[in-house]
Amino acid sequence: MSQRPTQRCHDYVQEVFAQEDEILRTVRQQTAAHGMPQISLEPNEAKLLQLLVRLCSAERVIEVGALAGYSGICIARALPERGRLITIELSSLHADVARAHFKLAGLADKVTVRQGAGMEVLPTLAADGPYDLMFIDADKGNYANYLDWAAENLRLGGAVVADNAFWGGSIFNPQTDDDQAMVAFNRKLAAHPQFDSTIIEVGDGIALGVKTK
Ligand SMILES: C[S@@+](CC[C@H](N)C(=O)[O-])C[C@H]1O[C@@H](n2cnc3c(N)ncnc32)[C@H](O)[C@@H]1O
Repeated sequence: MSQRPTQRCHDYVQEVFAQEDEILRTVRQQTAAHGMPQISLEPNEAKLLQLLVRLCSAERVIEVGALAGYSGICIARALPERGRLITIELSSLHADVARAHFKLAGLADKVTVRQGAGMEVLPTLAADGPYDLMFIDADKGNYANYLDWAAENLRLGGAVVADNAFWGGSIFNPQTDDDQAMVAFNRKLAAHPQFDSTIIEVGDGIALGVKTK
């Protein structure tokens, strides 16, 4: 059996394939400067997400959990000219900062920030579907509900992608409601009759499901 990838491998991939440009560095700095939680995707995760958008040839993407726009910028950069991202963000501060960062990145025309709770905004988006990819990175208690929405509103061959599948390791010894929610989400995705799925061992675990039915 070969050895698990090491921190050295992680750092190598990040240095060679996922270096942040000036815009992404600024977004990360501004996230801290605004006193917002520094819980954006790490560069390796963001690069993987960007490639998944490209692999799906995605043109219509939904994100739940914008924070300051870091992951949204990576998604939007992988979209074709006519591609669109709608990102849903509960906090008005986060939504405003994300909007400013999409403008800074020259992506304001491609990205719409909808301020509100995911479970309230998503039903208003269903009529404009189907969508090509959904990225879930918000309240853990609704991950399973967001998966239900993805099953109904993604096209065949579309992908659901979710961050924090390992939830910092808490899925192995779940204590809190959020821990239990992530255990339930992973199990639900793994057993879902409409998705072929796995967890990619990058960062905190990127769950990936491709809609097959
Ligand atoms: C982990 S951060 C998102 C990070 C972002 N995807 C990135 O990588 O740059 C989670 C975000 O979800 C937002 N959030 C929490 N509950 C939410 C909900 N019910 N609906 C929408 N957004 C929510 C939080 O305000 C926070 O900005």
